[in-house]
Amino acid sequence: MGSTHSLLSVILWVPHVHAVWACVRSCPANCVCTQERSCSVLCDRAGLGQIPSEFPCEASSINLDKNSIKFLSERAFGTLPSLKSLSLNHNNISFITPGAFKGLPSLTELKMAHNEYIRYLHTRTFTALRRLVKLDLADCNLFNIPDRIFIELPSLQELFCFQNNFRRIPGAIRGMENLTHVYLERNRIEAVAYNSLQGLTKLKYLNLQDNRINVVHERAFQGCRKMEYLYLNDNLISELPENSFDGLRCLKMLNLGGNFLRNVSNTWFRDLVELEVLYLDRNRINYIEEGAFENLTSLVSLHLNSNNLTTLPFSVFQPVYFLGRLYLFRNPWECDCRIEWLKEWMENYRLVRDIPCASPSSVAGIDLMDVLYDRSPEGYCLDPVELNVTSDSPTPSSKPFSTTESKFNSLISKLLLQMGLPEEVANTTEVFSNATQLDGLADGVTSGTREDSSKAISFSFHLPALLTVVIFQSK
Ligand SMILES: *[C@@H]1O[C@H](CO)[C@@H](O)[C@H](O)[C@H]1NC(C)=O
Ligand SMILES: *[C@@H]1O[C@H](CO)[C@@H](O)[C@H](O)[C@H]1NC(C)=O
Ligand SMILES: *[C@@H]1O[C@H](CO)[C@@H](O)[C@H](O)[C@H]1NC(C)=O
Ligand SMILES: *[C@@H]1O[C@H](CO)[C@@H](O)[C@H](O)[C@H]1NC(C)=O
Ligand SMILES: *[C@@H]1O[C@H](CO)[C@@H](O)[C@H](O)[C@H]1NC(C)=O
Ligand SMILES: *[C@@H]1O[C@H](CO)[C@@H](O)[C@H](O)[C@H]1NC(C)=O
Ligand SMILES: *[C@@H]1O[C@H](CO)[C@@H](O)[C@H](O)[C@H]1NC(C)=O
Ligand SMILES: *[C@@H]1O[C@H](CO)[C@@H](O)[C@H](O)[C@H]1NC(C)=O
Repeated sequence: MGSTHSLLSVILWVPHVHAVWACVRSCPANCVCTQERSCSVLCDRAGLGQIPSEFPCEASSINLDKNSIKFLSERAFGTLPSLKSLSLNHNNISFITPGAFKGLPSLTELKMAHNEYIRYLHTRTFTALRRLVKLDLADCNLFNIPDRIFIELPSLQELFCFQNNFRRIPGAIRGMENLTHVYLERNRIEAVAYNSLQGLTKLKYLNLQDNRINVVHERAFQGCRKMEYLYLNDNLISELPENSFDGLRCLKMLNLGGNFLRNVSNTWFRDLVELEVLYLDRNRINYIEEGAFENLTSLVSLHLNSNNLTTLPFSVFQPVYFLGRLYLFRNPWECDCRIEWLKEWMENYRLVRDIPCASPSSVAGIDLMDVLYDRSPEGYCLDPVELNVTSDSPTPSSKPFSTTESKFNSLISKLLLQMGLPEEVANTTEVFSNATQLDGLADGVTSGTREDSSKAISFSFHLPALLTVVIFQSK
């Protein structure tokens, strides 16, 4: 067998004209080899207990998923100069000899997800994979990986390590300047330290959702200036340093949902001028500092549902750049005159919905949309009453809402209505990936700032924000 192998290798190696024929000819037993433009070797679900001893040397991709391979020896695949993609998902690999992937100089994608017995990887496991762009080690029961394991992978861009047992962000990614996507969700990571993400200057996507993060150091993300999507949801974060997200001027989506935040600081989001979607849902927020969303001039969608908010001062949104969707359901809203402005907003934009009132008792259970605010003879808003306090006459608390204000708003709302507003799943943590291609449009700024004598509300209409909404809706 040894001699036929080498003979075959010689034949395959020399004349490139026979490549297609040769590929099929040398297909391993139980596998299927295709020959479209390049040779794919399909050995998935083939009942293999070990790596086949030979592959067609023109192979550009090999799929060995869902077998019961346990062991990878050194040079486990021989020499396959054209192999670009190798998949070993869903096997039972428990040991990988250092140098197992030697002889695969073109490999760009290596998948080994769902091999729950891997647990440990040697520093030199991936040696010689200088072209490797994408590495999938999801669900491999890894507790850690050696700090220098990626040292010989200069091309690595995407690292999938979700659903393992990491308790720290692996030190191995530090300084990996070509990494763009890092998936670390569903581990047991407890902190994002000041140096965890050092040198990740090209990182665009970082997923840390569903970990046990309770500490985020100051400026932890500072070096990640290209970051666009950051998932920190479903962790144990109760506090964030003032400058947590400083420097993230390209960030489009930030998910902080499902944590234990109580206060929203007006320092957190000050640099996030490109942010389109912000999730703060499922926290314990009951206080939002004035100006907290001030610099979010690109915001399309803000999720504040499922918190502990009783009121929402208009000043939180000043200046009003925000013309997207606002999710406020599942909060103990106190529907007094302080949030009458929100009712007006709901009526005019129809981008805010579902604000069931918790109090005062006369309106408890009613949606803010349906609350009828009484007026004093002078036109002041009167708080809905607590039912038991029958003798108290309500006190005027707010000046009349300007009618010009409302007309101005209606114009916008008509425009939006014409475009048609699609329903949207409310608590989703999905990214609106397609809302991100609209940057090019965001150039001109139309500012319709007006002062209103009675209530000094200034509406600044930010054209890019409006365009973003409209275009997004029409998709
Ligand atoms: C997978 O490997 C582990 C340990 O190496 C072994 O205990 C287990 O039985 C194997 N499972 C299968 C399905 O072969
Ligand atoms: C990043 O990629 C460039 C170009 O491919 C390469 O020269 C550089 O060494 C890589 N960086 C690292 C840290 O591997
Ligand atoms: C949150 O805000 C409240 C009200 O301003 C303040 O009393 C409290 O100290 C703040 N808590 C934190 C953790 O900043
Ligand atoms: C908004 O951005 C400007 C310019 O970058 C900055 O001066 C200002 O302090 C920011 N606002 C807040 C609330 O941080
Ligand atoms: C909600 O806020 C109130 C004070 O406004 C506080 O007493 C209560 O404990 C908070 N609930 C939660 C779940 O944090
Ligand atoms: C009115 O107040 C009494 C006690 O002061 C309380 O038992 C009752 O539940 C209250 N009713 C309503 C509708 O709030
Ligand atoms: C809404 O949130 C709940 C709890 O976090 C989750 O189980 C559910 O799948 C979410 N629904 C959608 C449509 O995302
Ligand atoms: C985004 O657009 C791509 C194609 O342009 C489409 O395949 C994908 O489903 C879209 N995603 C969403 C969330 O609309």
